[in-house]
Amino acid sequence: MIHDLRHTIEDIARSQLDNALEDGPEFDFVTDFAVPVPLRIVMQLVGIPQRDHKQLLSWLETFRGVMNTEYSAVESKNPAAMEATVDYFERLVDARKTDPQDDLISRLVVESELSDAEIGANCFDFIMAGQGTMSEFLSNALSLFDRHGLFEQPIQYEMEVVLEEVLRYRSPLQSRVRETTESVTLHGMEIPDGESVVLWIGAANRDSQKYDDPDTFVPDRDPDHLAFGSGTHVCIGAPLARLEGPIVLRTVVDRVDDIEIRHDEATPKPKASKLGFERLPVSVTPT
Ligand code: HEM
Repeated sequence: MIHDLRHTIEDIARSQLDNALEDGPEFDFVTDFAVPVPLRIVMQLVGIPQRDHKQLLSWLETFRGVMNTEYSAVESKNPAAMEATVDYFERLVDARKTDPQDDLISRLVVESELSDAEIGANCFDFIMAGQGTMSEFLSNALSLFDRHGLFEQPIQYEMEVVLEEVLRYRSPLQSRVRETTESVTLHGMEIPDGESVVLWIGAANRDSQKYDDPDTFVPDRDPDHLAFGSGTHVCIGAPLARLEGPIVLRTVVDRVDDIEIRHDEATPKPKASKLGFERLPVSVTPT
């Protein structure tokens, strides 16, 4: 399914860039491009009708507000939004049973043994997990391209290769939390059973025992990295991210002569667990 999305990704990136440029060459790359592009792509993959995108985005924002409270156990402050989301997916799964479409929900209904509730929950999780991380990835890439003069010499490096270094150097998800299921000793320190552990992906990706000169962005390093996690819960969306990132950024690079980023007006994400931008104002000279 992901492979078939290639043209959809191109079309969405192009049309979103046109929308962003509608009001002039200056816009916020995050709000006007890096947020809507991955959202539209993952909604299309899952099978959310266009008319419902706004509603879904509002639910996503509600849940992020609850979940992003850094390492504390916070209960949902908005049970009504939770119930509305569950109802929405229940109705969508039901509708696909009688009228399957070319989308992920229909395939899960027909081909998987998941319950209706599991299909709904997984689809919402795909949207949630696939939207914010991708937005951060695209904004991080644009910022690094600018800082390292890559707009002036785009053909020198393979986009796919540069983006692996973007993922290592500015990993969108900087940390995850786990609980130990037995006591472990790491580097001489004992972590008891049942302890919460914060795994710093961002730190692992700058490990000097693994990388030469880890704090330097090397466009053609092509690193092996942990930006998508590892083990049982390794990112299921990594193949989509690796297809989407190069297509979207190539579309941007091909359609503009020059991009000037106003780094002094950029606003970073406020949480240590996310590395990206809230705002990344740009001034673009279209081709
Ligand atoms: C550059 C973009 C992305 C980054 C950096 C990223 C990063 C990650 C990381 C680090 C994990 C592991 C979490 C853990 O072990 O606790 C993860 C899991 C996951 N990701 Fe991504 N992700 C990206 C894009 C996507 C996309 C596009 C999708 C879906 C369309 C997606 C869906 C998921 C899901 C569903 C999981 C949970 C997998 C599981 O628990 O088995 N991700 N991602």
